[in-house]
Amino acid sequence: MHRHTGVLIIPVLLTWLAGIATAASGTTCNATTLCPASAPCCSEFGFCGDDSFCLGGCNPFASHSVDSCRPSPICEDAMFTFPDNSRILSNADYFEGNASEYDWVVNKGNIMNTNSSGGELVLTLTEENGGTRLSSTRYVYYGTISAKLKTGKWGGVVTAFITMSDIKDEIDWEFPGTHTTQGQTNYFWQGVIPTDKTNGKTTTEPLSDTFSNYHTYTIDWQQDQLKFLIDGKNQQTVKKSDTIDSNGVAHYPSTPSRIQLSLWPAGTDDQAPGTVQWAGGMIDWNDPDYKAAGHFYATVQSVEVKCAPVLKPSPNDTSYIYSNSSDHSSPTITLSNHSTLLNSAPVDGVSGMHGMMVGLIALFLAFVHLF
Ligand SMILES: *[C@@H]1O[C@H](CO)[C@@H](O)[C@H](O)[C@H]1NC(C)=O
Ligand SMILES: *[C@@H]1O[C@H](CO)[C@@H](O)[C@H](O)[C@H]1NC(C)=O
Ligand SMILES: *[C@@H]1O[C@H](CO)[C@@H](O)[C@H](O)[C@H]1NC(C)=O
Ligand SMILES: *[C@@H]1O[C@H](CO)[C@@H](O)[C@H](O)[C@H]1NC(C)=O
Ligand SMILES: *[C@@H]1O[C@H](CO)[C@@H](O)[C@H](O)[C@H]1NC(C)=O
Ligand SMILES: *[C@@H]1O[C@H](CO)[C@@H](O)[C@H](O)[C@H]1NC(C)=O
Repeated sequence: MHRHTGVLIIPVLLTWLAGIATAASGTTCNATTLCPASAPCCSEFGFCGDDSFCLGGCNPFASHSVDSCRPSPICEDAMFTFPDNSRILSNADYFEGNASEYDWVVNKGNIMNTNSSGGELVLTLTEENGGTRLSSTRYVYYGTISAKLKTGKWGGVVTAFITMSDIKDEIDWEFPGTHTTQGQTNYFWQGVIPTDKTNGKTTTEPLSDTFSNYHTYTIDWQQDQLKFLIDGKNQQTVKKSDTIDSNGVAHYPSTPSRIQLSLWPAGTDDQAPGTVQWAGGMIDWNDPDYKAAGHFYATVQSVEVKCAPVLKPSPNDTSYIYSNSSDHSSPTITLSNHSTLLNSAPVDGVSGMHGMMVGLIALFLAFVHLF
């Protein structure tokens, strides 16, 4: 997501991803039209269902009740490297909520692994797969997240390293198209890009080519301020106190968030002209690099997470939950010892068999849609 030359762009990343789940369920949901008890969970794409709809990205404020979504797995300090892809579930639809079993799930697209430098994760983009996105299985509720990666370098192809909450608080590092000496930053509050003048920045200090060289991009997200760093050098600071509106509400990312890595097509016919332009034009599917490799790509060497817990977890705490408050502008998050697993408790009013049917139909339709 981004804005450029002062023009607000509709969240293009969401538009791109919406295609994944449009076929998965007939019922749509949002903060005014909640999901029915029979399909209680509102997925990140805005569709009602159960099973995987209740895991990462499930929106508590658009679901049947605020506790319909499974609790969010708690932050843990980690250094994720990729000697192979065994800690990554290649299809998020099969995830069952055990964040100790997988560090990442693939929401869309295809990953590979190189065997150089101890192994690297490769995100691919082809005309057929429409791009790749991974999400962390655990959430960060404030912390410092650093990704060491090499970006793409092709017109229309965007590399992104972001955090995204279940109510669409979002913090972005993005690398559009052919610009390989700079990065772009953004943050969103509940799906809206604050009009703060500090938002939507392009870094000014030239970087050595981001396609050929690894750089470490950091999102240092604290309760009172947000910093964007490259190779340990601060590029931008956003103070929460500067985002407070006339009603006293801070338009600042403040809900537990997953880490997401993606390589996505912005230079395509179905994107707005401004988006295509921002991304460096239409994708050239005859590009020699694409022909040679069979895909466009971005490479991730590591992702490091240092949690900065605002709430001090006790040993039995496993998850974050949203409180049952009518005020959605400043949601209250609490720690809980409730299981994050799908099969650990009956999901809000859905009988096993019915839930299974909804799940199977959703999976079938998602399959048909994807391939
Ligand atoms: C919420 O969803 C309902 C039903 O699909 C739709 O009619 C309404 O316009 C949506 N509201 C918003 C704010 O998108
Ligand atoms: C979760 O995964 C871990 C690691 O694979 C495993 O040891 C543990 O038993 C799993 N927990 C449950 C409840 O299945
Ligand atoms: C990966 O590289 C290491 C040395 O860097 C080597 O020992 C190993 O056999 C390689 N694995 C594969 C699958 O090529
Ligand atoms: C933590 O869980 C264990 C085992 O279920 C239980 O015995 C203990 O009382 C719990 N501790 C707290 C503080 O809830
Ligand atoms: C939240 O509030 C609704 C309606 O007030 C109630 O039905 C539901 O049980 C509450 N959930 C929790 C977790 O307190
Ligand atoms: C979970 O927390 C509740 C209080 O919030 C406590 O009563 C219960 O014993 C805890 N269970 C475990 C297994 O820690």
